[in-house]
Amino acid sequence: MKVIIVGAGLGGLACAISCRREGLDVLLLERAPKILPIGAGIQVSANASRIAHRLGVLPVLLERAIQPEKLEIRRYDNGSVLYIRPGRENMVQKYGSPWFVIHRADYHEIMMQEAIRLGVDIRLGCTVEGLDFDKSQVLVQDGETLSADVIIGADGLWSTTREILLGHQSPPVETGDLAYRATLSREEIEALDDPEVKAIYDRQVVTVWLGPDKHCVFYPISQGNTYNLVLLRPDNMPAGARTVQGTVDEMRLSFEGWDNVLTKILSQINSVLKWKLCHHEELATWTKGCITLLGDACHPTLPYQGQGAAMAVEDGAVLGRLLGLLDSEPLFKGTSAKFIPEILNLYEGIRKSRTTINVQGATANRFWYHLADGPMQEKRDVALRGGPDSTGWCFLRPDYWNDLVGFDAVADAECAFEEWLSQKGESIQ
Ligand SMILES: Cc1cc2nc3c(=O)[nH]c(=O)nc-3n(C[C@H](O)[C@H](O)[C@H](O)COP(=O)(O)OP(=O)(O)OC[C@H]3O[C@@H](n4cnc5c(N)ncnc54)[C@H](O)[C@@H]3O)c2cc1C
Ligand SMILES: *[C@@H]1O[C@H](CO)[C@@H](O)[C@H](O)[C@H]1NC(C)=O
Repeated sequence: MKVIIVGAGLGGLACAISCRREGLDVLLLERAPKILPIGAGIQVSANASRIAHRLGVLPVLLERAIQPEKLEIRRYDNGSVLYIRPGRENMVQKYGSPWFVIHRADYHEIMMQEAIRLGVDIRLGCTVEGLDFDKSQVLVQDGETLSADVIIGADGLWSTTREILLGHQSPPVETGDLAYRATLSREEIEALDDPEVKAIYDRQVVTVWLGPDKHCVFYPISQGNTYNLVLLRPDNMPAGARTVQGTVDEMRLSFEGWDNVLTKILSQINSVLKWKLCHHEELATWTKGCITLLGDACHPTLPYQGQGAAMAVEDGAVLGRLLGLLDSEPLFKGTSAKFIPEILNLYEGIRKSRTTINVQGATANRFWYHLADGPMQEKRDVALRGGPDSTGWCFLRPDYWNDLVGFDAVADAECAFEEWLSQKGESIQ
């Protein structure tokens, strides 16, 4: 079975590795002529590290990762602690796999190296411009057509394959928020020579400040030599803009009056990127014939639950496993290709419900994170501090986290395949 994957982001790479591990032939097409590190830090929750384990890359990732001691949520103006969730062994015990933060460039490079090691054929500087659903082909920029049994659009938020598959324009929807992303070196932050700030940076913790319409996320990456900052606020970028260089003055002004410690940290930042945050309503379909989508191409989300890439790698691992199971099923010897559309529909069915829950959870987090001071915020803070919870906010429900990060996406797919196969078996007999 031959698979073409469009896009070598984390989702496309997870899919490529997963397919190769199943013995499938993989051609990975990436528009970028060179792989450049975008963004800085990324959180990898237990459901995503479980996938990394399946794909054989977890030990290498952990060598370059930091497993935070805890997640700590603070009030925006005076930094008082509202909530603590312990990490490390506590996460492993609860969800069966670690929670870590890592430099995106490291994560991406490790996945890329593993894909190469397994024999994935990777073409850089190759932009896909068309799809032929009858012939199961992609059309690339220079006019060449490439054929495969399965084609997977993993081309991200601004996906071309999504629009071709749907047959109409389908740009992602602006959420009304933007992200400033910046990094600081350890030296830059040490230069503040401030014991109050040191108490915040000299530890392995993901620190979040919540305030009206805005929040901030701060954590160390790269063995603590770099700090990652993401600052979220209402969008003031022109419609249609994607990523631009921001100004540090505007960024600092946006967080004026926030916790002293944060203000001092922000004073050390020299450059900042501005990202418009988009998501997508649930698509009518992800699949047409032997072509399907994964990751941000079909379920882009606000990053307020730290699960966008996690869902993309789950998708990729699941697709590889399902196609592998189909390809090696003795019942279909020589005829498995004709069941590909059914398998892709099966994939879409199990992934859509899960990824929709994530998109909705991130939107709910925006509401609760960004409350203005007042009765609702007080209600939220009481619950965050462990008092009675009258919010209904998913974030505060242990069962929600069990389902979200305790989930084993590949095991779930194997069950779905078994069920499908038993129905198939009956209809064949
Ligand atoms: C501020 C911020 C913070 C985030 N933090 C987290 C986090 O902590 N944890 C987490 O799990 N997620 C996080 N996310 C989400 C995460 O970044 C994305 O969900 C994830 O990277 C999506 O991966 P993907 O492989 O689907 O798409 P992408 O990473 O976008 O990859 C798509 C690839 O396709 C290529 N491509 C595009 N078009 C074509 C074409 N026509 N032909 C060929 N190639 C093409 C692109 O060049 C790109 O390499 C965050 C997002 C933001 C904005
Ligand atoms: C921070 O502010 C909140 C709300 O005004 C208040 O309840 C809390 O006591 C303050 N904490 C500290 C440490 O000042």
